[in-house]
Amino acid sequence: MSAGSHAPLNEAADDIDEGVGESVEARLEKLRDARIVVTGGGGLVGSRLTALLCKVGAQVTVLDRMDAYPEDGHAIFGVEKTGATLVVGDVCDREAVAVLLRDADYVVHAAAYADVAACTRDPDIAFRANVQGTQVILEEIAGTGVRRLVLVSSASVYGDGPTGSPGPHMFHEDQALFPLSVYANGKLWAEHQTRLMLGAAGGAEYAIVRYFSVYGDPQIPKPGSHSWMVPWLSLQAKLGRPMRLNGGGVQVRDMVHVQDVAEATALALVEEGMAGQTVNVGTGRPTAVRKVADLLMPYFPDAERIVTPRPEGDPLGGYASTERARELLRWQARIDVEEGVDRYVRWLEKTPEAVPRWLAEDGA
Ligand SMILES: NC(=O)c1ccc[n+]([C@@H]2O[C@H](COP(=O)([O-])OP(=O)(O)OC[C@H]3O[C@@H](n4cnc5c(N)ncnc54)[C@H](O)[C@@H]3O)[C@@H](O)[C@H]2O)c1
Repeated sequence: MSAGSHAPLNEAADDIDEGVGESVEARLEKLRDARIVVTGGGGLVGSRLTALLCKVGAQVTVLDRMDAYPEDGHAIFGVEKTGATLVVGDVCDREAVAVLLRDADYVVHAAAYADVAACTRDPDIAFRANVQGTQVILEEIAGTGVRRLVLVSSASVYGDGPTGSPGPHMFHEDQALFPLSVYANGKLWAEHQTRLMLGAAGGAEYAIVRYFSVYGDPQIPKPGSHSWMVPWLSLQAKLGRPMRLNGGGVQVRDMVHVQDVAEATALALVEEGMAGQTVNVGTGRPTAVRKVADLLMPYFPDAERIVTPRPEGDPLGGYASTERARELLRWQARIDVEEGVDRYVRWLEKTPEAVPRWLAEDGA
């Protein structure tokens, strides 16, 4: 299937809105005054989600270590400006978690050591944040009045699909899972453990969302990372360096905009059909990494491209089956990669402070 064979994303999403009869914000009206804890709410996705939840009148408390980015990169995301209460702390801190969950109606668990390469380099940190931290959240939800937990998982659980053959593969929620990295393995564990521990009658419900490749302003890269191609390639080009295409950029990603991801995650809190379900959050369109470089070329016409080796644990990838998201979440992405890249470059132009010093100085 090629990207060209689909209707534009915004038209398809408008069809869903018409079918549903309400805008996303109107559907989130149920969350007005609800007390929601967002772990990892100081990060890229969490801050956008927190802003949305605050906008619809929820009382949001963020629990985040606020140290995932050097040089106070978190400031770029601006969670402090959303109106949420920010608690700087660790999801492994059982007492802090217990205090926060005691008064919560909903929880989104988005905190994670959220970088494939970093998890491979430091599996102990990955284990603590992604496995132990999830266990603390799940244990501390028991016996509270929390109605639903949304667990943030990742399409990395699919690996390269069952055959390991070059894609692009469409990934369905019920197919066999083949995590290829420490990061993906931790996510898979968190999914299984959530299913084991929650969802019994009378207890908190759960819903699991598997994000595909999230991008969009204000995303900035992390040192030593090979994920997040839109900021990496844009910043390399902006700094006059070659755009580095790992493995030639043949890998396929389903590029889903952070605003769409925030909306999908918020809807997973309220959609009745999501109880006990696992749903892909992607556009349903395959984009090769080198296509991202193509899309950036008009903005950076002098940029060179070079081919670098494909890193360990970097899947060939695939794209989302979106049927279940349409059916259960009643959601479809609106922002296509052309629009999302355009928005990103324009934001970068207006936001010189988005260029991290470590990148400008070290060329890492
Ligand atoms: N960005 C993507 O492409 C993508 C794709 C699939 C899944 N995800 C998942 O989405 C979620 C959000 O990721 P993101 O892209 O916003 O990354 P991010 O690094 O910007 O956000 C993660 C946040 O979690 C916080 N955190 C990490 N360990 C913590 C701990 N032990 N205690 C408290 N806070 C902690 C970090 O400080 C950070 O603010 C993560 O669970 C990630 O695994 C992201």
